[in-house]
Amino acid sequence: MNTAVAAARAGLDTDATSIQVVGVEVVAEGVVAVTLADPTGRRLPPWTPGSHIDVILPNGLVRQYSLCGDRWDAYTYRIAVLRETAGSGGSEWIHTQLAEGQILGFGGPRNHFHLVPAERYLFIAGGIGITPLLPMIQQADRLKIPWKLLYGGRWRRSMAFADELTDARGHVDLVPENEFGRPDIADWVGDIEKGTRVYCCGPAGLLDAAERASANWLPHTLHTERFVNGAGRRADDRPFVVHLQRSGLDLPVAPGTSILDAMAQAGVGVLSSCRQGTCGTCEVAVLAGRPDHRDSMLSETDRDAGDCILVCVSRAHTSTLTLDA
Ligand code: FES
Repeated sequence: MNTAVAAARAGLDTDATSIQVVGVEVVAEGVVAVTLADPTGRRLPPWTPGSHIDVILPNGLVRQYSLCGDRWDAYTYRIAVLRETAGSGGSEWIHTQLAEGQILGFGGPRNHFHLVPAERYLFIAGGIGITPLLPMIQQADRLKIPWKLLYGGRWRRSMAFADELTDARGHVDLVPENEFGRPDIADWVGDIEKGTRVYCCGPAGLLDAAERASANWLPHTLHTERFVNGAGRRADDRPFVVHLQRSGLDLPVAPGTSILDAMAQAGVGVLSSCRQGTCGTCEVAVLAGRPDHRDSMLSETDRDAGDCILVCVSRAHTSTLTLDA
């Protein structure tokens, strides 16, 4: 098991505790910002830019949200939640049921999207992907490190925290798609100077575009965090077969079905939590075949090794995938 996933599992098991909703504010069309505090007024665990927490809702759903407030405020966390009507109910519950005073469970904070030291930063956000980048921008500001932000969204009114960003010290390009079309990432980035780090967070299309643009950059220049919508589904998903070595089962996995669901329907249990590829709970060892990783947990090294998969969202590049289950 990779270390990030092991840490995430350990965290989910051991550090979940209670947190109180002390503020709910609409910050853009379809986006609410939620402020959370310890119910007894104690300090909250410290965190660093790029961190997220697990939020455990009263209906049992566990969702991961990036911390997007001031990391130097020891008493409150801020998260922002996009309403996803096609999601599995977590954001819908938050948008319709959440109220000040409610007590939720939470785990973490944990950070799989660290801001590493650099001479300059380029930040690229798509939609709600702005959230983990906000504390990074604040950090860069405090350290007087030059930065630029490309922030895309469907339309201006759906782009959370856009006003807040205009007060920041760096250079911000707001690019609502209905006004300017989709931004050309390679064009916006231009020639990468040595010492630059690029941080990108948003939907799959944006991340794919950033990864294509990074083909000629120095290794490890690009850092990404992928927000998985619709449980990682894509229009061109193909069916494949999962062979479970220990169970001796061959399970067809159709487009629109996850490996996790196929295993559950066959009576093979796998622990799961977020079902969005963000917590690492559902990791299974891969014995043969090539995984199509769609999570936001595994490192590039883990992905290249191809010996594990998060079965809630990831699929297969090969027609058969053999798992240790
Ligand atoms: S259940 Fe969280 S990564 Fe699969």
